[in-house]
Amino acid sequence: MRVAMLTGGGDCPGLNAVMRAVARKGERVHGDELVGFLDGWKGVMEGRTVPLDVAAFRGTLPRGGTILGSSRTNPYKVDGGAEQVRATLTELGVDALVAIGGEDTLGVANHLASDGVPVVGVPKTIDNDLSATELTFGFDTAVQICVDAIDRLHTTAESHDRVMVVEVMGRHAGHIATWAGIAGGATMTLIPEQPFDIEAVCEAIRHRHEQGKRLASIVVVSEGATPKEGTMQLQSGEVDAFGHVRLGGVGTRIAEQIEHRTGYETRVTTLGHVQRGGTPTAFDRVLATRFGVAAIDAVHDQAWGTMVALRAGSIVRVPLADAVGELKLVDPDLYDVARVFFE
Ligand code: F6P
Repeated sequence: MRVAMLTGGGDCPGLNAVMRAVARKGERVHGDELVGFLDGWKGVMEGRTVPLDVAAFRGTLPRGGTILGSSRTNPYKVDGGAEQVRATLTELGVDALVAIGGEDTLGVANHLASDGVPVVGVPKTIDNDLSATELTFGFDTAVQICVDAIDRLHTTAESHDRVMVVEVMGRHAGHIATWAGIAGGATMTLIPEQPFDIEAVCEAIRHRHEQGKRLASIVVVSEGATPKEGTMQLQSGEVDAFGHVRLGGVGTRIAEQIEHRTGYETRVTTLGHVQRGGTPTAFDRVLATRFGVAAIDAVHDQAWGTMVALRAGSIVRVPLADAVGELKLVDPDLYDVARVFFE
């Protein structure tokens, strides 16, 4: 078969590992010819490809990012975009497409699958907010990067008796913040699912600091955390092709409020894209490899319109529609575990 791959949306550590596995099993076991579309759906619309084979992935297992490049292009938002996608696939004689992405990229894949395009999905996002899979690769790496940063912030915060606000990614769901908060020993973790009261945050910090000197507080904040209505003003930013607002900045607002309301010196660290870069953890490399092998098997079973997923430790196939319908939010029971350690 002629099998094409693409990576769409925000990049994440482990993308190369997925494609390496697809290429390996595709070429060596199934005798496939592999091709890659550059820059996500944009490259499909424009017919920009590169040949891929086992050799193309040498040395890429530990490399973050994606050798194919990525974009946030939505063909359904471009005039004639979906028709262009179909035309490219026909012209290039593509028998199957493996789309590796998050809710947006896989949302497009789902739409195309309903229109008869032979597509299989692989779930990717550091945010871990895709439904129908317990985990996405890239999440473990992102959490580890946050925890390493928090560990470092603890020591400098203690030296200066300061409050440290750490803003992490998580647009709609606070998985990264919750995990990093628990693993990093946060005084308070603020996530989109649980609107916060800035005065309650300040009260927790006062309580902690009243217990003695050098009890520095770490407040972990998801970039999508929102205050309870009417309690604090936030700015809004630009919107992308999938209608998402560009976030970043809530940490700074919160740090200003903490310093103003409590009088404690407060600093903010916004981890931003550091969380998406660099080498994947061993866990993510293994998960990505398992997803890649399962995806090429799904192609050969003609399981169109499905996504490979992790459930109870096993790799299974689920309908793409189940993955993109609604986001997977933080389990309130897990957040309650984090809450036990709030002051
Ligand atoms: O891919 C998900 C994500 O990392 C979000 O957590 C974040 O809001 C967004 O991407 C940032 O996107 P960009 O790379 O376009 O700034």
